[in-house]
Amino acid sequence: MSNYTFNYHIYPKSGFLNDPNGLAQFKGKYHVFYQWLEEVTPQGAKCWGHYVSTDLVHWKDQGIALHPDSWYDKNGVYSGSAIVHEDTLYLFYTGNVRNSRGERESYQCLATSEDGENFKKHGPVIEVPKGYTAHFRDPKVWKDKENNYWWMVIGAQTQELKGNVVLYGSYNLEDWEYKGNILPEQMNWGYMCECPDLIELQGNNYLLVSKQEKIKINEEEIDQSIAVYLPGEFSQEIPSYAPLSDGIRLDEGFDYYAPQTFLDDKGRRLLIAWMGGGEIDYQLSQPTVNEGWLHGLTIPRELVVFDKTLYQKPVDELALLRANKKDFMINNEEKHLNFTSKSIELLVENRDCSNLKIKLFHTVIFTYDSVSKSITIKRQNWLTNQYDSNSFYIETDLETCRIFIDCSSVEIFINHGEKVLTMRAYFEEENNKVYFGSNKSLKISSWDLVKEES
Ligand code: FRU
Repeated sequence: MSNYTFNYHIYPKSGFLNDPNGLAQFKGKYHVFYQWLEEVTPQGAKCWGHYVSTDLVHWKDQGIALHPDSWYDKNGVYSGSAIVHEDTLYLFYTGNVRNSRGERESYQCLATSEDGENFKKHGPVIEVPKGYTAHFRDPKVWKDKENNYWWMVIGAQTQELKGNVVLYGSYNLEDWEYKGNILPEQMNWGYMCECPDLIELQGNNYLLVSKQEKIKINEEEIDQSIAVYLPGEFSQEIPSYAPLSDGIRLDEGFDYYAPQTFLDDKGRRLLIAWMGGGEIDYQLSQPTVNEGWLHGLTIPRELVVFDKTLYQKPVDELALLRANKKDFMINNEEKHLNFTSKSIELLVENRDCSNLKIKLFHTVIFTYDSVSKSITIKRQNWLTNQYDSNSFYIETDLETCRIFIDCSSVEIFINHGEKVLTMRAYFEEENNKVYFGSNKSLKISSWDLVKEES
């Protein structure tokens, strides 16, 4: 095992991983499928790799669930979702096809499984309707329990090359009725909305979307792909979604895209995202490429709502990994703590709401200014050696900061997940120091995160 190999995250043993797909709990087991290519390249005919777990922490690799071996998905079994109905797991995905003229075609397809191990493909259930380009993908299905009806959202690009989210409805999961675009067309949704997910949580609606858009930085136009959520109102009568904002970032870190949620048997709304994305050159420059693998998924998070704000809270099961707890206090001082492991959890309690600085193995620097309530995150870039940086504000004081480190990743949860920062970070092996500084007092707890082989 190299220094970079994850201990408790899902990652490909070899090759390239992107979006989480088909998240479900079925017959007691958690299922996570993911976009996978055997080679470390983002281009190619993707399949659905498959992991299962009984506790969201110990994952078993099940190999490939869906191969791109049919006429309707020969160039890729693209992203999609899962639902459980009458003891059967239904998987909806996009079949990506390049036709003989080299043009893209997309089909929304169905596959089922009775046991969660063997999968039967049933072929396309939806073709691209008039008015859209072939960038029409990533079906997410959910049940309207009151009306015994199924809804599906699909990420789309209109003929005018504008992003939107398309709604379908069905009584039987096979015949789907087109209902139209649900996002207001006068607003800007970039040029493509990938991986939409429409959820209801504590009586509120949220639409999650991974938006592709052009933005200007210093007069230069660049492509940006960013995962946002839109609090709003879903109306079944008109089929429409009225967003209250044009998008709140789901993550303030550097590597987070294509989140997907599902409801588990405990009724929790859980979310897993791709801990990756960005420009192709940036992706392929990551040091794990030399080891033959690239990217991972985030730790599972539970979504909860407080004051209409969506919180991403690490699932409770992660505490199963905790070992070797240590507690420290620091008072108006700077301190270096030594860690032998790079698979750790840190909990920082900032009871005086003071200024705070944390440096993780010299590679990630987190600072909080208690007067302006601003946070800055810096992560040393492996290519340039410079620090990538992002700054943002929080509404309330910074009270807690929970940090998960896993050999080459950092996930920071501020105030129980009010803001989250997800990133890859490549630490120097010999650097064992975590630095804490504060102008008042901090309580710090640390654990080694140890996974017992299942
Ligand atoms: C998002 C995405 C999806 C697509 C998949 C292909 O990262 O582009 O829209 O289905 O990846 O791997």
